[in-house]
Amino acid sequence: MKSKIGGLFKTVACAAAVSCAAFSFTSAAEAETLRVGTEATYAPFEFAADDGSLTGFDVELIRAIGKEAGYDDVQVINMPFDGLIPAIMTSQIDVIIAAMTITPERAERVDFTDPYYTSGLSVLIREDTASKYPNIDALKGQTLCAQIGSTGAFTAEKLSPGKVKAFNTEPEAFMELKAGGCEGVVNDRPINLYFLSQSNASDGVTEINEVLTAEKYGIAVRKGNTELLEKLNTGLKNARENGTYDQIYQKWFKLAPKD
Ligand code: ARG
Repeated sequence: MKSKIGGLFKTVACAAAVSCAAFSFTSAAEAETLRVGTEATYAPFEFAADDGSLTGFDVELIRAIGKEAGYDDVQVINMPFDGLIPAIMTSQIDVIIAAMTITPERAERVDFTDPYYTSGLSVLIREDTASKYPNIDALKGQTLCAQIGSTGAFTAEKLSPGKVKAFNTEPEAFMELKAGGCEGVVNDRPINLYFLSQSNASDGVTEINEVLTAEKYGIAVRKGNTELLEKLNTGLKNARENGTYDQIYQKWFKLAPKD
């Protein structure tokens, strides 16, 4: 009975649509696939594995939540960090998970789920400048590096107005620091710590032992998409309760240090 009504509706709707085949195909596909945007140069939250597939804490978490919410397919799409909110506003994606901090400015443009991770900013410097910069205050007014559109970039701008070099990706900011093009990288602490412990590219780099901000990450949906927001919040709650969240957390945040 239900499908008959659905079929009748489709026939009526198709009479007005330009192409009936395209019309029904698109709506069916959209019902099953959750389109997720991220910026995947941000280990251990989202990055490309050796085989090119996207992985990390966020990627595994959204796959678990999506499955929990009944989506057959969770498609994770890599795009520039400052392009994520525009992409969700124009419906190119349904969800953002990108270690994205919940801020009042962003909350005017998208809706956030309950927080899923507590974070904060710290600053990386070159080891050979450690005595010059014993604390973050000493870095004020120096050239700083950060990722475009990130809370790190906003904070760097406050520390050194007009003297911030912003890059599309965090690895580029790290490289610039090593090359002497800036004196510090302002970035989320868990990513800084992962970089220091897991990558030989961080040789000669150290962290100023100070946390600048308290930030919480949220998963974003299009403003007003309460149906999806509720599904994600329920999925997140279930993942916390049934141990999935802990399992993914252990995998990505309790790693052996580099040799
Ligand atoms: N938490 C910071 C922010 O929201 C940085 C996030 C960067 N994320 C990424 N996938 N590159 O601005």
